[in-house]
Amino acid sequence: MAAPNIETIVSLAKRRGFVFPSSEVYGGLGSAWDYGPLGVELCNNVKQVWWRWMVHERDDIEGVDSSIILNRLVWQYSGHEATFHDPLVDCRECKTRLRADKLEFTGESAAPKGGDIAESILQKRVKCPNCGSTDLTEPRLFNMMFRTRLGAAADEDDPTALAYLRPETAQGIFINFVNVQTTMRRKIPFGIAQIGKSFRNEITPGNFILRTREFEQMEMEYFVRPDAEHLKLVDEWVEQYLEWFSSLGLDRANLHLHEVPNEELAHYSKRTVDILYRYFPERPEEERQWEELMGIAYRTDFDLRSHSNKPSDSEGKRINPDSTDDLSFFDDALKERYYPHVIEPAAGVNRTVLAILMDAYSEKTNDKGEKRVILKLRSHLAPIKAAILPLAKNKPEIVGMAKAIKRSLQPVLRAVYDDTGGIGKLYARQDEIGTPFCVTVDHQSLEDEAVTVRDRDTWEQERVKVSDLPEHLQIRLRA
Ligand code: GAP
Repeated sequence: MAAPNIETIVSLAKRRGFVFPSSEVYGGLGSAWDYGPLGVELCNNVKQVWWRWMVHERDDIEGVDSSIILNRLVWQYSGHEATFHDPLVDCRECKTRLRADKLEFTGESAAPKGGDIAESILQKRVKCPNCGSTDLTEPRLFNMMFRTRLGAAADEDDPTALAYLRPETAQGIFINFVNVQTTMRRKIPFGIAQIGKSFRNEITPGNFILRTREFEQMEMEYFVRPDAEHLKLVDEWVEQYLEWFSSLGLDRANLHLHEVPNEELAHYSKRTVDILYRYFPERPEEERQWEELMGIAYRTDFDLRSHSNKPSDSEGKRINPDSTDDLSFFDDALKERYYPHVIEPAAGVNRTVLAILMDAYSEKTNDKGEKRVILKLRSHLAPIKAAILPLAKNKPEIVGMAKAIKRSLQPVLRAVYDDTGGIGKLYARQDEIGTPFCVTVDHQSLEDEAVTVRDRDTWEQERVKVSDLPEHLQIRLRA
């Protein structure tokens, strides 16, 4: 089974230390979340697993970590200043701000686009989801980039001080294309990967960590020849990601492919396939159960060309008079210079974590008829791999032995010691946070130098010699 809804995960995440509402002591901050001790471990594990899979285990991908704040011109020439907009409407009745393209339209199967939205609002065919009023303003475009000012003396509207927090990590890759290609002596095809925070001033953030204004991305830009089979490459990356998500424990039945229609493509994309996850299984209509987990886009040579100083328009005028470099590539084999085309798989860390938590959620009834939650996280993602539990916390020899075992495991795997409750409670807690193994030290352990290893998913127990424990756990964690 998977979690019946996101709320189940919100409650577990808060109760057990994965994710807390941010700034809670001041009443919170709309849709901002803080990752607690277990949440930060889970996020780090996802990022490490991705980096290993994407960069270390392949021969054709390098990594970078670029600045969050880039020269404003990056966002001018990437097209974000002009086009990174969402349509915004206000409800005149309750003053709620709404995304016009996400409103529910009555009597129409799908939301109309562009001018049609304005027409529908005028015709009062749209209701405010908050108060039901049809008294909405006309849609206007709202740029989602967060603005900031650089420098101590910059005053409020000094345009020379204006800068943005990046809305995608991708641009930090494009502007470093030549740096990476030349220093690492790369030939086309090759890719550049990056993990990092991005920021979007979303009009309607919500649904826990699904849509927030600050989030983390794992993006990779794969540079290929202009004559490559781009559309086929998109499908190949879709397949690779489906496999990767399955290695994280996501059920294929909870993933869905969505070919983005031409009129909805981002300004840089010729084709995008989104991988959707079933974040809303409780909704009766299947088409409303899905939301984007990641996207795979064919970005053509749009970005490298836009940031280059050479290309000119039909009148011979340089398209980018501000750039000091040309981001083209000389292909020795073809004896030809070109702007490589790009296939971009772009995933969100937070949405991946939410999907993992939802898919890992399960319930089991014990022999006393009590319901227990088990988070069946894949071992490599589990925040804690083994919990060492003393059966009697008032017996110094047992406590000492348990703590010594924990210390001995520490160099090879993440282990914790816990004596804050009876053994039943301790097992239940570890099951709920996804710890694959509990190791119990009891009276007999003092005699036979052995401990009980309990499996999270089956609740089966096995006696293991303390001297064999590190290897025993490592083998089972790899299984
Ligand atoms: N460089 C391409 C790009 O940024 P995107 O589809 O806008 O593409 C990629 O974003 C991924 O980033 C999304 O599929 C999602 O996982 C994540 N993401 C985007 N906006 C988000 C938000 N407001 N909150 C959480 N994750 C977000």
